[in-house]
Amino acid sequence: MPSIYEDTEEGRNTERADFPGFPSADFEKAGREQLSYLLLAGLNPDSRLVDVGCGVLRPGYWLIHFLDSGCYFGIEPHKGRLEMGVNIILEPEVLKAKRPRFDTNPHFDTSVFGEKFDFFLAYSIWTHASKRQIQTMLDSFLRDSTEGGIFLTSYCRQAVRILTTWAMAGTGPVTSRTCPVAFITVVAG
Ligand SMILES: C[S@@+](CC[C@H](N)C(=O)[O-])C[C@H]1O[C@@H](n2cnc3c(N)ncnc32)[C@H](O)[C@@H]1O
Repeated sequence: MPSIYEDTEEGRNTERADFPGFPSADFEKAGREQLSYLLLAGLNPDSRLVDVGCGVLRPGYWLIHFLDSGCYFGIEPHKGRLEMGVNIILEPEVLKAKRPRFDTNPHFDTSVFGEKFDFFLAYSIWTHASKRQIQTMLDSFLRDSTEGGIFLTSYCRQAVRILTTWAMAGTGPVTSRTCPVAFITVVAG
């Protein structure tokens, strides 16, 4: 299962080492926004959540702070982004106290943690993913979610063009996201 960006030449440009994986304008706001959507969907401190494509922990930072110790799980195949999130963005004392777990598999395989999850989060992932990859994520959700589990995802039609413009320009930020983001709640059952 390739990276969600590998289907097109434009997408491959977003995999450059110096591209952090998201527009940096409104970085904090966009992370907190994901936490607030999850709270509205019923996230509790003792909920178990897996963040598929967690990147540099843009939402993960807030989620790890909110969730109880051992309740946050992240999957991110781009090791540089994950290291930036864990070693630079997250405070060392929070890392130690909250014990988040991570995996770098590119197969959307949430079974690697051996857990059942109350929440799946895939923000700014389906926008770039193929139908087959989305199907794989939903299969993982059905297999590894608790009864009544919730999958929160976003889809933005214009995001690919914005990210590509940024990657081509080689500098950032070019623009903040202005396109609408759809949050879809999928309930297993
Ligand atoms: C647009 S970024 C979003 C990151 C994060 N969800 C956020 O909101 O900041 C997409 C992320 O998906 C990751 N990714 C690419 N292919 C993936 C795969 N096969 N499985 C999981 N994540 C993947 C990228 O490395 C990147 O960090």
